[in-house]
Amino acid sequence: MKILVLNGINLDMFGKREPALYGTTTLAEITARLEALGKELGVQVESFQTNDEGAMCERIHRAKLEGADAVLINAGAWSHYSYAIRDALAMLTVPVVELHMSNVQAREPFRHQSVFAAIVKGQISGFGVDSYLLALRAAVSAASAAAIS
Ligand code: DQA
Repeated sequence: MKILVLNGINLDMFGKREPALYGTTTLAEITARLEALGKELGVQVESFQTNDEGAMCERIHRAKLEGADAVLINAGAWSHYSYAIRDALAMLTVPVVELHMSNVQAREPFRHQSVFAAIVKGQISGFGVDSYLLALRAAVSAASAAAIS
């Protein structure tokens, strides 16, 4: 099973960016933690980060063509307004898990809306690095269920 992890705009700055909100763990460290958990769960984890919205859409197109079994996405601020990424994700037929490090519902009103909400399998928000690890477990479980049915 192959799980694709997508990280969007400004998330390459994790570790250096607003530590009170996002902690001090870098994206490279998060990626390593996901790979370790992937090994434990017996799945392959591939991670991608970009600050370019078009590049994110193209990576999602490639996921559709290459056939990932599930997708995790933390799109950063794009989550709140990018209909382009929403439409790209809507092309996928595999489970998509949206995640956020911070609790977006406890923050500014513009973060309360996710334009992905209606088309993803589910959302995980507010657990810091654990949001990623919980999302990977949820994605593997949802992909396994989808494979059986
Ligand atoms: C974020 C939450 C978003 O609102 C914000 O724009 C980010 C990070 C999170 O992981 O908590 O860049 O997605």
